[in-house]
Amino acid sequence: MMREMKDLVVGVVGLRFGAQHLKGVIENGATVGMICDKDANRLAEVGEECGIPAEKRTTELADVVNNKEIEVVILATPDMTHKDQIVQLLGAGKHVLCEKPLALEKSDLDEIVAAVKAHPECKFMVGQICRFTPAFKMAKEIIDSGRVGEIYFVESEYAHDYEHIFNDPTRQWRADPKRHGVIGGGCHAVDLLRWLVGGDPYEIYAYGTHKMLKQLPYDDSTLAIMKFPGDIMGKVFVSTGCKRGYTMRTLVYGTKGTLIFDNKSDTMTFFEVNPEDADHKAEEKIIPVDINNHNAASEFKTFADHILNDTPVTTDVMEGAKTALACISIVESSVTGKVINPDYSFS
Ligand SMILES: NC(=O)c1ccc[n+]([C@@H]2O[C@H](COP(=O)([O-])OP(=O)(O)OC[C@H]3O[C@@H](n4cnc5c(N)ncnc54)[C@H](O)[C@@H]3O)[C@@H](O)[C@H]2O)c1
Repeated sequence: MMREMKDLVVGVVGLRFGAQHLKGVIENGATVGMICDKDANRLAEVGEECGIPAEKRTTELADVVNNKEIEVVILATPDMTHKDQIVQLLGAGKHVLCEKPLALEKSDLDEIVAAVKAHPECKFMVGQICRFTPAFKMAKEIIDSGRVGEIYFVESEYAHDYEHIFNDPTRQWRADPKRHGVIGGGCHAVDLLRWLVGGDPYEIYAYGTHKMLKQLPYDDSTLAIMKFPGDIMGKVFVSTGCKRGYTMRTLVYGTKGTLIFDNKSDTMTFFEVNPEDADHKAEEKIIPVDINNHNAASEFKTFADHILNDTPVTTDVMEGAKTALACISIVESSVTGKVINPDYSFS
């Protein structure tokens, strides 16, 4: 008999951004098996807000790992804990949706890829949530339909003022020297470009500056340029100290037109070449889009459908590992001043 959404019993671990995932699980009608946060106050707060009974709350990951009813686990804990938690959960036969970035070092990415390959019975998805943002999905559809033509330049930015986060004593793991803003938040912009062009940047060069968040052991702003297969130039700007509203403004330049869009606007702009015009002038078209920057419900539905229908996960472990490695390479270039050619093979 065909299994339904309510048959999926889900655990959610880490309840800050994870609270959004929990709401996505509930909105989709899946069953919450357990919620987990090592901070008992946060656990109680989210438990009350979402109506999760006390017996389904725990401060211990082991309770989720050992709970036989739980089939799916969403992991929204600090980045540096992902690898060990993924290994434990896969070892217990759980399907895992893990937040981005999967890890902060190549060796951890290798171990995560190896663990996922060792457990083909478990589905694994990386939470690159921007692939579910309506404007970004629409841009991808327009590109894939051929209306933009051959892409020759793509750029995106992750401009997000994090000062309040770095001043919060409970969130200091983000100031770990390995947790550079390009890998943490900037991975959204890098992943977006990889996804939109359908390829991995093979040559990367970057600069960084450090004028805003002096409490950080790394640059707060970075500019990277890169080459993608197919003779496509790429550019990514990341700032976690900038004084402006959060944006992921993105531009895609192709032989038949140019797309301009972001994660916060209710329209996107498409300059589309008019084939009737002798000079191939582009006409400006304003396309309405929904605003839903963190579409956790759509992300969970996609993962649940892969589990229920036993289909391959599209945003799989390799997507997460390649995006993280491209980001690690940007940081390496900005620190060493060298051009980096990432090796996207994972052991
Ligand atoms: N997709 C996105 O747009 C997005 C946005 C924010 C955060 N994230 C990612 O989500 C993850 C969590 O980020 P956050 O902002 O919620 O961090 P946070 O520090 O604000 O919250 C993490 C929560 O996890 C809990 N926790 C830590 N270790 C735990 C453990 N071993 N077991 C159980 N609970 C544990 C903490 O008590 C805390 O409540 C990170 O990987 C981050 O990069 C993604």
